[in-house]
Amino acid sequence: MKRLMTLWLLLIAMAGYGQSADVKMKTYVDGLMKKMTLEEKIGQLNLLTPGGGIATGAVVSSDVENKIANGQVGGLFGVIGEAKIRQAQELAISRSRLKIPLLFGSDVIHGYKTTFPIPLGLSCSWDIEMIERSARVAATEATADGLNWAFSPMVDIARDPRWGRIAEGAGEDPYLGSKIAAAMVRGYQNGDLSKDNTLMACVKHFALYGAADGGRDYNTVDMSRVKMYNEYLPPYKAAVDAGSASIMSSFNVIDGIPATGNKWLLTDLLRKEWGFKGMVVSDYTSVNEMIDHGMGDLQQVSALALNAGLDMDMVGEGYLTTLKKSLKEGKVTQKQIDDACRRILEAKYKLGLFDDPYRYCKSDRAATEVLSADKKAAAREFATKSFVLLKNNNQVLPLKKTNSIALVGPLADNKSNMLGTWAVSGNADLAIPVLQGIKNEGATQVLYAKGANISDDTLYAKKINVFGTRIDIDKRSAQEMIDEAVAVANRADVVVAVIGEASEMSGESSSRSRIDIPESQINLIKALKRTGKPLVLVIMSGRPLTLNWESANADAILFTWHPGQEAGNAIADVLFGDVNPSGKLSTSFPRNVGQIPVHYNHLNTGRPNPGDAFNKFRSNYLDVENSPLYPFGYGLSYSRFEYGPLQLSSAALKGNQVLTASVQLTNKGAYAGEEVVQLYIRDLVGSIARPLNELKGFKKVLLKAGESKTVSFTITPEDLKFYNSALRYDWEPGDFEIRIGTNSRDLQSVKINWVK
Ligand code: BGC
Repeated sequence: MKRLMTLWLLLIAMAGYGQSADVKMKTYVDGLMKKMTLEEKIGQLNLLTPGGGIATGAVVSSDVENKIANGQVGGLFGVIGEAKIRQAQELAISRSRLKIPLLFGSDVIHGYKTTFPIPLGLSCSWDIEMIERSARVAATEATADGLNWAFSPMVDIARDPRWGRIAEGAGEDPYLGSKIAAAMVRGYQNGDLSKDNTLMACVKHFALYGAADGGRDYNTVDMSRVKMYNEYLPPYKAAVDAGSASIMSSFNVIDGIPATGNKWLLTDLLRKEWGFKGMVVSDYTSVNEMIDHGMGDLQQVSALALNAGLDMDMVGEGYLTTLKKSLKEGKVTQKQIDDACRRILEAKYKLGLFDDPYRYCKSDRAATEVLSADKKAAAREFATKSFVLLKNNNQVLPLKKTNSIALVGPLADNKSNMLGTWAVSGNADLAIPVLQGIKNEGATQVLYAKGANISDDTLYAKKINVFGTRIDIDKRSAQEMIDEAVAVANRADVVVAVIGEASEMSGESSSRSRIDIPESQINLIKALKRTGKPLVLVIMSGRPLTLNWESANADAILFTWHPGQEAGNAIADVLFGDVNPSGKLSTSFPRNVGQIPVHYNHLNTGRPNPGDAFNKFRSNYLDVENSPLYPFGYGLSYSRFEYGPLQLSSAALKGNQVLTASVQLTNKGAYAGEEVVQLYIRDLVGSIARPLNELKGFKKVLLKAGESKTVSFTITPEDLKFYNSALRYDWEPGDFEIRIGTNSRDLQSVKINWVK
């Protein structure tokens, strides 16, 4: 009783504290806003980048400099480095009338200057603590270098590997995606924005950007509300619930209205239904792009965005140039401008910028934190955990350091593609090539040959090389390169071919209609296969690929995504068995593009196909199976994990009872290893059609060789809930299948009944 009282008093005190902090912030912002002119308020809604044609030595263009001095800029992005950010902040503090500090944002997507694996790779670790830590490390480094705002996490559910931006997210599943979204927000913000080592997260791209028709970037999205609520919105909501202080609207339309001007999305759903209190920023010129969507001229689309609830206009200056006129003409209200301005000022207040505009500009912190040894070590650890072992026949992996290894392939001795897409602050010169990593590891006999270009197509290479050379076309003919690689292979015990996509073959505006490995590299690995030597493929990519020949012919496949700065060291760690691979796919790998979408959690049809063989008048294809090549949740280990029988505490439950599901897991292999034990549920009868399978829990378990552990999950009615056709979130009584296993395909299943 006494303890309860104390807790109660503590809660009251905490609520009082929170309130008084809010009151203090309101008083401060009210006071400031009283002094602001309409132009200055509109100025806060303007987010710019440094501007083109910057004179040597200047941090921003003279045009942007004047705007800062005139109070026409609320924040900048794309200014990188503590000293530069300090200079730009000084402009605002010394030259603008009200000395309102600027926000400094950047695309801190997978690490900052120390580059981690691409987010899709990180998601394959299924290691939520580690993913949170990756955001924490990135925040520590980025804030030490002057930044206070990260345009991350990207939490768009993506089920179409043709879409290049699948690389930036956590894959196809709302449950895993939500866990990762919340972890990233926690990592960036750490529960306290005012600390000098935390920054404001920005959940993006709100919403549904990953569902672009045909996987073509920026394309139309059209989706039922039931699908939205159950499958696509959960990660954004999880990030909002985790306290993300900002959110970015997406480029696509929703119900025919671009997200950036969509009032239902930005106000009704986000603010009213979800209670979001932070600021909403547009995506890059997404206000202006509504002109091309056919929503009107710049004045109209800017008013549309403000009316919808969009606070800050990224780059396009539609707000800056038209809102005053719209206010005069009654197309927007003073209150809307005030509300947007207030939210941006509140963000600055929470970041502590009014106390100290240079809070994030401490040169001593920059010197010790940026690219520090601990961050490099973290990058290596994160990379090893993101790799997925797709195949390992006859235990060809791990390799022995005494083996003679033919290391071939266009990505084997390459730095420029290791960081992956959206590594805007990363430095590819710091990347460790695989060849170097393998030598660092102490392998004694390594024979290297490039073997092929990433692609032989010069026109294609030109499109990929927009940010520098990623596809480097050799002067030698394709045959000469293959001959050299084959000669090297013939002298070795084992061939390791490092192949795949260049980093800019995925990412923004990098959609592909074919998602295979380019022909030049296929020709190489086919020639290597003919040598009869064991063939290990290390495949780098920003998206799932179609790997039919590879999976049928290679002896082992390690899928490493784009691993980041420590690529070579991390790959060597895994190839030689210093680290046992434990990644599991967060997206299904299709057999061919025609199967897309091929995610595991789809609905049943009225004519389901019982297996993979063709059946007339069932739902299937004449020329390909329904199943993916590699299912969601799939990934091997150097160990072999054996699952005991699935045991349930009860098969008949009522109301709020709790069900326990457990299995005994045994490591039957010769190495210590981690296994991700996965829990799925199928709701067999519902008022709307329910998915065939839904991930509802997972545990990553470390077992020594020979060790056994019981892995248990507790299941409550909360895990059975979904949005019904009236968008009511609840569970419905009936039969369910409880499933546990090593991936979404290989599961044990027990039926239960749960009544209300
Ligand atoms: C992307 C965003 C990014 C923004 C700023 C846009 O093109 O869609 O994800 O945050 O640019 O760089």
